[in-house]
Amino acid sequence: MLAAAAARHGGDLSLDPWELSADRYLSDGVTITDEERERLVGEYDAALLGALGDPRVPDGRHARDILLGLRFRADLYINFRPCRLLAPELSPLRTPDPSTHIVFFRENTEGLYAGVGGSLRAGTPDEVATEQSVNTYRGVERIVRAAFRYARDHGRSRVTMVDKANVLRYEGGLWRRVFAEVGDEYPEIERETMYVDAMAMDLVRRPERYDVVVTSNLFGDILSDLGAQVTGGLGLAPSGNLHPGKWALFEPVHGSAPDIAGRGIANPLAAVACAALTLEHLGMAGAAEEVGECIEASIAQGVTTPDQGGSSSTREVGEWMIGRLAE
Ligand code: IPM
Ligand code: MN
Repeated sequence: MLAAAAARHGGDLSLDPWELSADRYLSDGVTITDEERERLVGEYDAALLGALGDPRVPDGRHARDILLGLRFRADLYINFRPCRLLAPELSPLRTPDPSTHIVFFRENTEGLYAGVGGSLRAGTPDEVATEQSVNTYRGVERIVRAAFRYARDHGRSRVTMVDKANVLRYEGGLWRRVFAEVGDEYPEIERETMYVDAMAMDLVRRPERYDVVVTSNLFGDILSDLGAQVTGGLGLAPSGNLHPGKWALFEPVHGSAPDIAGRGIANPLAAVACAALTLEHLGMAGAAEEVGECIEASIAQGVTTPDQGGSSSTREVGEWMIGRLAE
């Protein structure tokens, strides 16, 4: 889809496949080398990553090294996760609102993902395990600003910041202060704060109410799965790991689906939606739009995999969409 859409728009796109699979890790113990990471970030404009996760790597090290390694190495501080309901029947909710379109701005380089922590007396009944949430003024400021800027540039009217400031007072205090400060620069955008527990409830109760949402790394990880589910499931949800003006990494919000491995029925739409985000990042907005239209058409016409009620295989969905592009 990436190549076909770019070609139609005269885009000059060269694609290199990279092998970073769990098979490779299991055979030589390497997830991704420092040198590969440097090359990927230094020599390309973007990467489109397949789904990660393999039951043969139960501690998730492979996925963590590659995904978190690249996010941190390239300082991709924005995890952009749009959740748009393309058809009401895709939602598990009883009365979904067709206008539902939430855009999550998940902080992507700090918080509980910073890797600060440790353990003492591991493996004994006196074991201690700690994990610290790291929040810097600069880190909070740039993600909050990215959310407001997006809202302004895309005609969105409200930014919701999600935290747990009633308990996590230090990070909550910082986030709220920065949110108010940056928000003041965007007087035309309404702003509100929500506690994460209430937000989890409200995203099920009335997701259509939410517009742009900005939050910390872990809350964003969790809430973006919830947002994806109420708008059609992980099979549809793309994400972009971004740092404006720099290299970007696109990946479906979902991981792999080992329970259906080898059957040829994995839903390709989230990955294809990532291809659209990639094209947009590369300055090929027209091509991106066409890919988006193909996704909508595949849903409207029921050319989908079984998880979405269709009877097509992964390959058939892909080929159908490529065929449609050519029409
Ligand atoms: C995601 C994933 C990753 C995360 C995992 C695989 C490390 O769940 O991209 O949302 O927690 O960020
Ligand atoms: Mn996740």
